[in-house]
Amino acid sequence: MKVLILNGGPRKKGTTSTILNKISEGAAEKHVVDLVQVYDLKVKPCVGCLKCRPDKECVLPEDGTQIVGRKIRDADVLVVGTPTYWGNMTGPLKTLFDRIVTTIGYYNGGLPKPNHKGKRAVIVTTSASPWPFNLISSQSGGTIRSLKTVLKGGGFKIIGVINMPSSKKRPEVPEKFLKQALSLGRKI
Ligand SMILES: Cc1cc2nc3c(=O)[nH]c(=O)nc-3n(C[C@H](O)[C@H](O)[C@H](O)COP(=O)(O)O)c2cc1C
Repeated sequence: MKVLILNGGPRKKGTTSTILNKISEGAAEKHVVDLVQVYDLKVKPCVGCLKCRPDKECVLPEDGTQIVGRKIRDADVLVVGTPTYWGNMTGPLKTLFDRIVTTIGYYNGGLPKPNHKGKRAVIVTTSASPWPFNLISSQSGGTIRSLKTVLKGGGFKIIGVINMPSSKKRPEVPEKFLKQALSLGRKI
């Protein structure tokens, strides 16, 4: 199977990247893994015309959007990771998802329909706020909700969520989360 990992965080040695790398290690035992660093892509922001719905193509010139769009179409499993920024995913990851509305779902006049039924997805986020505030005060809870909106819109079945709080107090990812990441990767 093909596993696509989208790293929506800027710090390649940060907590989010460390957890994603462990998932990759576990998944690579059986599958082909491709990891995209979203911060390395050039992606212009969506202009909100929604012409991509009837036309199935974005009006903007080709950029990193189409490269990732093709990879998502080809993938069997999508892993999305992001640090929590303002109770949500990072800006570049959100910009990318805004640009691939038509890759996630299709539109034929009624409500948008999912393009990825039968595929599976994993969500990873880390946040400075400690448990349980990360969940109850819309910190990483907000990030997970937003990512679920995108992934469920595409028809992905979410098979795992890794949510690491208190990252400022413990810049080294605790063993518990590394184990969870490795076993989730192996389960794919
Ligand atoms: C711009 C910015 C906004 C942030 N917003 C939040 C937030 O809303 N809630 C929170 O708990 N942590 C927030 N944080 C802290 C990060 O989520 C936290 O440091 C994260 O674990 C860093 O991940 P990394 O190690 O992968 O870079 C923010 C950090 C930055 C840089």
